[in-house]
Parts: sequence; C-alpha cells; structure tokens
Amino acid sequence: MSLAPILSLKGVSKRFGGLTVVKDVSFDVPPGARMALIGPNGAGKTTVFNLVSGFYKPDEGDILLEGQALQSLPSRKRIGMGIARSFQNIRLMPHLSVVENIMLGQHSRVSGMLDMLTPLSAFARSHWRQEAEALLEEMGVDNYRGEVVATLPYGIRKKIEVVRALAARPKIMMLDEPAAGLNAAETDNLTAFLEQISARGTTLLIVEHDMGLVRRLCDHAVVLNFGAKIYDGPTATVHENPDVLEAYLGPRHAGTEAPRRQKEAGHVA
Ligand SMILES: Nc1ncnc2c1ncn2[C@@H]1O[C@H](COP(=O)(O)OP(=O)(O)OP(=O)(O)O)[C@@H](O)[C@H]1O
Ligand SMILES: [Mg+2]
Repeated sequence: MSLAPILSLKGVSKRFGGLTVVKDVSFDVPPGARMALIGPNGAGKTTVFNLVSGFYKPDEGDILLEGQALQSLPSRKRIGMGIARSFQNIRLMPHLSVVENIMLGQHSRVSGMLDMLTPLSAFARSHWRQEAEALLEEMGVDNYRGEVVATLPYGIRKKIEVVRALAARPKIMMLDEPAAGLNAAETDNLTAFLEQISARGTTLLIVEHDMGLVRRLCDHAVVLNFGAKIYDGPTATVHENPDVLEAYLGPRHAGTEAPRRQKEAGHVA
C-alpha cells in the first residue's frame, strides 16, 4: 500500500522567454521519503524548487501539498503550510549570530508580514530564543549559537542553514546542493545530520551532485535532463539506466561503450 504523497507535481512546465526549462514534469514525494532530484547542470532542478516554493509560477500543471493545490498561493503561505528550503548559495544573515538566524527561520511560522515587523515583546523574544537554542542543541550545533555567522567555517554555515530551514517545522524540506563545497569529512558529517533530520519525521527532497551522499541518504531518485523527467525509481539502480547514462555522459556513450564491451568479451573482431 502506498501512502498519499506529501508533495505532487502533475504535468508542470515552466518557460523563460522561448526556452522551456521544466517540461511536463510529474512526480510524487511520499511522506517520510528521502528523495533525490538529480540531473546535469541546467537540467531544471533549482527551477523545480522555485516552482514548489512559489518564487515562480508554473505555465502549466499543478503542484499539490497533501492534495491541496499551491500554484495560486504566495511563497510565505507555502512556508506556513510546511514547505521549507535551503538555497544553492548560503543565504544566512552573515552579521547576525547563529541563534538569531534560527529565530528568523522560526519567524516564517508567524502568519503575516505585520507580525514580522512588530517588535517582539520581551516574553515572546525569550520564548523564541529558548526554542531556537533547544533546536540547536538537539541538532548538536549549540556550541556555535552565539557566534556571528560570517566568522564560522563554511561547513558549519551549511549546517546552520539546514537548521534554519528546520526551525520552520516543515513537513517537507527541499535542500539545494547541501554538500556543495564541502570536503569528504564535512560531507559525511552532513549526511549523518540529514539522516537525523529524516529520523525526526521530516520528508526530504534533495538536489545534490555528490552521488555518494545521494546513494547513502536517498532511497529514491527523480532525474531531470533538459527540463524533462527521464528516471523515477530506486537510487540503487539509477546508474544503470541508459537514459541517465546518456544524459550524464553524452549521446556517444552507448555507441562507444557497447562495442568496446562486446570486444572485451570477444564478440567483435
Ligand atoms: N530566471 C530565469 N530566467 C531565464 N532562464 C532561467 C532562469 N532561471 C533558470 N533559467 C534557466 O533554466 C535552466 C535550468 O536552470 P536551473 O537553475 O533550474 O538548473 P539546475 O538543474 O538547478 O542546474 P545546476 O545543477 O547548475 O544548479 C537553465 O538553462 C537556466 O539558465
Ligand atoms: Mg541548481
């Protein structure tokens, strides 16, 4: 029995000028999934995130959160409904402390813009701060809570950005290349961190070029190429799919690899 999806894309297309960068893409993200959205540079992965989070409107198709159509809702409303994301480039406030950045993440749970602009009462401030500190502790990064973000190593900033997205208490978290720029040890550390987030019950949709991370963390992968979906299946077998191989290695791949393999096996003179 398959669970009703948290997030569904149904026939979603997006054009910029004359260029269709997302082409009739459909896929479902079941609750609790650790799903990867992969594909070569320019395949449309970040655009899909921008469509789901409401930065862009689709030209065609439906985007549903737990069955509810999102296309006409503004970005802020979608965050309140349980969609959080991180960005390909870190977007923390560099001059604020770690805990203040987490508090900004919590604010996306507050309903309207007016609430954002109203100065918080001392009581509310201490409540939000305590909650932010508790989250940092739970995620094992509370030793950085008072540090100004700009002074922290890149790997820690990437983690803090994930914690900020988590502060909105999302149902589904979309992470855009969380391991980009990290070394092997930092990537291992981040993978364990994301496993921990998944174990808390948060559904993950991850764009990532590091296939080691994808294989370790994600059970399911959707592959895009030139805006179209070319694979939707287990991560374990994605590297065997001929369309995926061609997308990553070029159209000559099948033409050169197959005869060489036959030759090695002694089938071709
Ligand atoms: N605002 C925009 N205006 C015009 N073209 C855009 C815009 N945003 C994205 N594109 C184009 O859409 C295509 C897909 O871009 P997108 O950023 O979604 O790719 P990606 O799969 O995230 O790639 P990468 O792995 O390099 O991050 C690219 O050709 C890009 O140039
Ligand atoms: Mg991208």
